[in-house]
Amino acid sequence: MVTIFHRFLILIILLFIQNIYSQSTAKSIAVREKIAIDHNWRFAFGHLYDTDKDFNHATGYFSYLAKAGNGDGAAAPDFDDRAWRLLNIPHDWAVEQPFDENGSFSHGFKAAGKGYPEKSIGWYRKKIDIPESDLGRIITLQFDGVFRNSKVWFNGHFLGTEESGYNSFEYDVTDYINYGGKNTIAVRVDASMEEGWFYEGAGIYRHVWLKKTEPLHVATNGTYVTTDIEDDFANVTAQVTIENKGSKKGEVEIVQTIFNQKGEQVAKTSQKAQAPDFYGTTTVNSTLKVNNPQLWDIDSPNLYKLVTEIKRNNNLIDQYTTKFGIRSFYFDAEKGFFLNGKHVKLKGTNNHQDHAGVGAAMPDELQYFRISKLKEMGSNAYRCSHNPPTPELLEACDSLGMLVIDEARLMGINKMHLDNLRKMIERDRNHPSIICWSVGNEEWKIEGGIVGERITLTLQDYVKTIDSTRPVSVGISSGFKSGISSVVEVMGYNYLGNGDIDAHRNEYKEQPGMGSEEGSTFATRGVYFTDDEKHYKSAYDVKPRPSFYSIEEGWNFYADREYLAGMFIWTGFDYRGEPTPYGWPSVTSYFGMMDVCGFPKDNVYYLKSWWGTEPVVHVFPHWNWEGKEGEEIPVWVYSNCEELELFLNNKSLGKKKMKQNSHLEWQVTYKKGEIKAVGYNNGKKVLTDVQKTTGNPEKIALIAHKKQLTGSDDIAVITVETLDKKDLHVPTANNEITFSVNGGGKIIGVGNGNPTSLEKDKFLDDITTIAFTQLQEQALASEVLPETLSEYNESDWKEAFKDRDYKNLAPSYIYKTTFKLDELSKKDKITFFYEKIGEETAVFVNGHLIAPSQEDSQKYVLNNGVLKQGINTLHIIATPIHKVNDWAVINSSPGIIQVITPSESWKRKLFNGYAQVIVQTDGSDNEITVTATAKDLKSDTIVIKK
Ligand code: GAL
Repeated sequence: MVTIFHRFLILIILLFIQNIYSQSTAKSIAVREKIAIDHNWRFAFGHLYDTDKDFNHATGYFSYLAKAGNGDGAAAPDFDDRAWRLLNIPHDWAVEQPFDENGSFSHGFKAAGKGYPEKSIGWYRKKIDIPESDLGRIITLQFDGVFRNSKVWFNGHFLGTEESGYNSFEYDVTDYINYGGKNTIAVRVDASMEEGWFYEGAGIYRHVWLKKTEPLHVATNGTYVTTDIEDDFANVTAQVTIENKGSKKGEVEIVQTIFNQKGEQVAKTSQKAQAPDFYGTTTVNSTLKVNNPQLWDIDSPNLYKLVTEIKRNNNLIDQYTTKFGIRSFYFDAEKGFFLNGKHVKLKGTNNHQDHAGVGAAMPDELQYFRISKLKEMGSNAYRCSHNPPTPELLEACDSLGMLVIDEARLMGINKMHLDNLRKMIERDRNHPSIICWSVGNEEWKIEGGIVGERITLTLQDYVKTIDSTRPVSVGISSGFKSGISSVVEVMGYNYLGNGDIDAHRNEYKEQPGMGSEEGSTFATRGVYFTDDEKHYKSAYDVKPRPSFYSIEEGWNFYADREYLAGMFIWTGFDYRGEPTPYGWPSVTSYFGMMDVCGFPKDNVYYLKSWWGTEPVVHVFPHWNWEGKEGEEIPVWVYSNCEELELFLNNKSLGKKKMKQNSHLEWQVTYKKGEIKAVGYNNGKKVLTDVQKTTGNPEKIALIAHKKQLTGSDDIAVITVETLDKKDLHVPTANNEITFSVNGGGKIIGVGNGNPTSLEKDKFLDDITTIAFTQLQEQALASEVLPETLSEYNESDWKEAFKDRDYKNLAPSYIYKTTFKLDELSKKDKITFFYEKIGEETAVFVNGHLIAPSQEDSQKYVLNNGVLKQGINTLHIIATPIHKVNDWAVINSSPGIIQVITPSESWKRKLFNGYAQVIVQTDGSDNEITVTATAKDLKSDTIVIKK
């Protein structure tokens, strides 16, 4: 029996446990926190020049530049954004738009940004809680990147403008915070201008963080780790800059500890320093010795962690982790590139940040997916053309073993250029993957002359003041003679066809060089006959234009010359925009070794043969040529075997010897069946590849790149294909597949790699808002709100709130307004977001009394039964709001109507046998089930676990 005493005892125990728990949670708050604030932002389009459509922002008598905290319109903390769309960051609004012939060629003809004033301004708003216990800490809002020209407000305070879409930036918001309550972040993004000539997305397309530190802390990007390798140890120089945003001075201790990949401590040092003055910084250098270092290398990307601690009187006040690698490298003018003393030919690709379905807003895992695909191709280097990348791209390169050229956006020597360059280097200089800073690309106006030369010299010296361990390069294209080419530390040759590389090298014997761009070849995945009408480029690797070379020609040139460090193909993946040599309706480029989804074109196997280490045999094209019986089909084989033999329906068509860095060709009279290539080394069969004539598609097959997701934003990239009745992949299939998803996740994008596909990348609910017509009112004699609507004299309506005498208010008022529904579908969800115009309120739509929703007393969900197509009438009966003083402003706008039209099902056509669907977890433990269906095909379902 439970007595009162027992209950009392239980209560005491519970209170005790709770106390311990709250103490332990209070204690467990780290001295430094970096909190992702990607989820649940409100989003709406503003307008480039129509202030009404830009939420009347910056129209007030005092603008946000006039008075502190005066952000108005959508920048105001109390702006009602409930009718805005709810979304997670990273977000790219350009990829969500349809394609339009009038759109920008460079940005892939999306109806957004330049030329689309109604789709070039995006507003983002988010409310965050900041606990009272944070008082005294320094709170910073960090943006990894926003495209572009963003302005940020915090609780109405204007924080600043960041013009570039490629900089990471931050704002200290400490003094503006409402501690223990809600705080509002508002961001206005203006993507009406382009920075590059390739797809760049639009919006907050990289992560946003809230950083909390003590006043004395490691400055932003405040560590710089360099390593010197001796015989069996490495000296690690750890430089740390500490910043003091408080007034406490005195001595502090800086403790630097290095941990290896297994988490074992391998070195530690401590030294004293004086805390810098208020708002000042101090830099402290420590040297640590790591014995028998595990070097960071392409094949074994070993990473170490430096943990920097600041202590005062033995109390920890900051702890900051820097990942780094121990490795050495140099570019040699005679012998090329060396990593850890070993010669490494750079087998690189250029890439932009853009993927099928999601555009520039790439979930972190997609960076790993893409870098892994490049590595599988045998690539070991990546040029971030032509801008500083998202931080996670560099993390993927560090942890997977991919060398990187990090590139600044705009060349110049003024504050803006230098600051942007400095920010990139300070942010990125601890990444072991980065081997070079590129400060320009094809600067046609200056590259051949003295101005380019001077700027390059200045930038090279400037870079050395921030990082002395890496050389500087520039990609040059208009001749390799004078100007930048004559002074740049590592010459970046953009294309063999643009000048005489050997001649340049003979003149500048001390200057290392590499092919910063090569290729720009055209190929459509799975297409083997060029059809200009259809904008199809055959995937055989041929010289694309008179002054450009095939991938094979390019690689042979670079492979043959020891003095050249290597080459970077233009590009690893297709990207939106630059659909050269075509235009509309082609919307993505043709340059990639892989398409926008990462599905390989045949060139991948050429590279894999000569860049990779595994034996390769790849025969192409596919063998579905119904109607071409008796015609000659060129059959190519990519392989690194010594000899290859081709068989048509098991009949040998002869053996051929493979030349280094080459391929083999046969002309084969088409007959259905199978074409098979067998590779031999030392006369022994090594590998076989075969293309078989398939039957029609019978069933769908889904294959996920991983079957288990972790964390809150992880993704599975799912390949969609069709199989014939013998389970053979059908390379010519183009069925339209419809997707449905259940459980703990959602689809975030679909694609198929077809440059001419104008299908949607995303299927999203359509959200529109409808404003009310002018509000009218009549004064009422009673303060009791009725439950039914009576008749009111039409002639008594007058403009609401006009000349209202706040000293003599009526007991209540009735207000009338209308809104127009152009269409009304049963599926639409229609909500009235009411903004208070009275104390007690009764809302009537078309004469029906509507109850407020349970979760928000100022939200009215309007069921279809009370609405009609065309004009609808809203009546509000409300007791008046009294003014607390004469200058109080009383709201006179009743709010807004929101219409959500649910999207149709996600779907995509296969393109030459493949499509891709990307699924993202919702962070729950619930597994995700994706089902793909199509007319006349057997459907398939895949389960993604958590
Ligand atoms: C280069 C340029 C690249 C891309 C490429 C297309 O000149 O650097 O960004 O435009 O041409 O061929």
